[in-house]
Amino acid sequence: MGAFLQSCPLGGFFLVAFFASCFFPEPGLVAGGGVTRHYKFNVVLQNVTRLCHTKSIVTVNGKFPGPPIIAREGDQLLIEVVNRVPNNISIHWHGVRQLRSGWADGPAYVTQCPIQTGQSYVYNYTIVGQRGTLWWHAHISWLRSTLHGPLIILPKHNASYPFAKPHKEIPIIFGEWFNSDTEAVISQALQTGGGPNVSDAYTINGLPGPLYNCSAKDTYRLKVKPGKTYLLRLINAALNDELFFSIANHTLTLVEADAVYLKPFETETLLIAPGQTTNVLLKTKPQYPKATFLMTARPYATGLGTFDNTTVAGTLEYEPPLNESHQSSSIKQLPLFKPTLPPLNDTAFATNFTNKLRSLANPQFPANVPQKVDQRFFFTVGLGTNPCRGNQTCQGPNGTMFTAAVNNVSFTMPTTALLQAHYTGQSNGVYSPEFPSYPKSIFNFTGTPPNNTNVGNGTKLVVLPFNTSVELIMQDTSILGAESHPLHLHGFNFFVVGQGFGNFDPNKDPAKFNLVDPVERNTVGVPAGGWVAIRFLADNPGVWFMHCHLEVHTSWGLKMAWLVLDGKLPNQKLLPPPADLPKC
Ligand code: C2O
Repeated sequence: MGAFLQSCPLGGFFLVAFFASCFFPEPGLVAGGGVTRHYKFNVVLQNVTRLCHTKSIVTVNGKFPGPPIIAREGDQLLIEVVNRVPNNISIHWHGVRQLRSGWADGPAYVTQCPIQTGQSYVYNYTIVGQRGTLWWHAHISWLRSTLHGPLIILPKHNASYPFAKPHKEIPIIFGEWFNSDTEAVISQALQTGGGPNVSDAYTINGLPGPLYNCSAKDTYRLKVKPGKTYLLRLINAALNDELFFSIANHTLTLVEADAVYLKPFETETLLIAPGQTTNVLLKTKPQYPKATFLMTARPYATGLGTFDNTTVAGTLEYEPPLNESHQSSSIKQLPLFKPTLPPLNDTAFATNFTNKLRSLANPQFPANVPQKVDQRFFFTVGLGTNPCRGNQTCQGPNGTMFTAAVNNVSFTMPTTALLQAHYTGQSNGVYSPEFPSYPKSIFNFTGTPPNNTNVGNGTKLVVLPFNTSVELIMQDTSILGAESHPLHLHGFNFFVVGQGFGNFDPNKDPAKFNLVDPVERNTVGVPAGGWVAIRFLADNPGVWFMHCHLEVHTSWGLKMAWLVLDGKLPNQKLLPPPADLPKC
């Protein structure tokens, strides 16, 4: 796939999906210079075997992980999704800004009703002002565990990367494999109120690798040549785990995060949360090293609950020089190097790493950080409890049910889509516009938790006038354990202007904010027992979901939505809904 900057991609991974746009002349030009690209996603069941367990999984076109979407900045995408499985389906294009095209964003019951069995929907959107690696995934229940794939945005035809052109580009998707059906796992957890079962393995491009039972042949093998630079497009598609990643004896240079260029920096190990994407340059050894190198990933975990503490491994294999290639059968005899990953709870590493992320912030790729703020918000994020329903005992803390909340509101999913309710003026009984800007009760958020850990429930939105400049502090709580929460905002990138441990101090902390070159992204980890400050400009009308990208926390209610109203000008208004928008 290294050659996909030319008109057609080469190489196995991308060939199938790119077939259509390669062999048929590109249809008409889109305003802004891009082209229209068509994809067809047939959502079908497929039997897949990992760890010697075979199960039927929901896939796109029978592929696991799913096929990549490849486009250039400025292109329009028309992706027809046909639901041929028993489950309701919706697909989210994670990180795509969806300017005025909120109908194509995808979260079920937020911007659309799900696509029902036998139905289809064409996601129609244009990629504006973004280039890099993003991804797509199902956005209903836990179906994204198997329904996900890369979404790669190449620079415009005459544009180049702000770094040397890599020899090849390779997607590396981290996933999480459950031997059991993930829909059963979450529905059981929500019934009993307890924590869900954890996964059985992590995967790299769908493969668990040699450190698991029965999996040596299911190992991702990255074959490289000496003396070249490879661009690895890393995507964390795991359901519930942030991951450390490293390649033995090799240094990685981070150049992009969430489809925004970074000031390049080198690291041996990186951290990537579910929802996040990172492009890294891998420089191979100048000479054939006569060795094989493992690349491994395992969790960074801060909560009190159990988690899958296993390690996924793939291999980095050098092509032997021609005169030695007769020995290539002897790869098994080569020495094998293994990277050392940080301890599973290494918050010091996490802090040090995230502090190194800076926007490129040059004249060509400026960091447009809002310098003034129109509205300030302070959200607590964390776990909590709900009383057990009926008079049975639940399996959550002290016989209660686990829940999670933002400002003590655990979000209740509506049964119709919020965006439709707003657009048609029928929001009564669907949502309330009164999401609290500040927590109702102030306590020592990161100190000893209050005795009463029960939360409220509701479907509440923050309503913002068009072009409001927003500052949001997200504060972790220690209720049922301080924990890192990767918060994801739909429809926007935000700037991470500050972070710290303990309780946010509105008098002292803002003075330390970085308003010059903060990292710009769509998913940020709220530090365990700490806070993060973000800023964004609400210049995209629509209803935009915000939630923890640890799927279990989303299921428990750690989610809310922003309603951004139309502006006055015609090009500041949400487009009308497409005719095939699914009905509830
Ligand atoms: Cu990647 Cu709302 O999700």
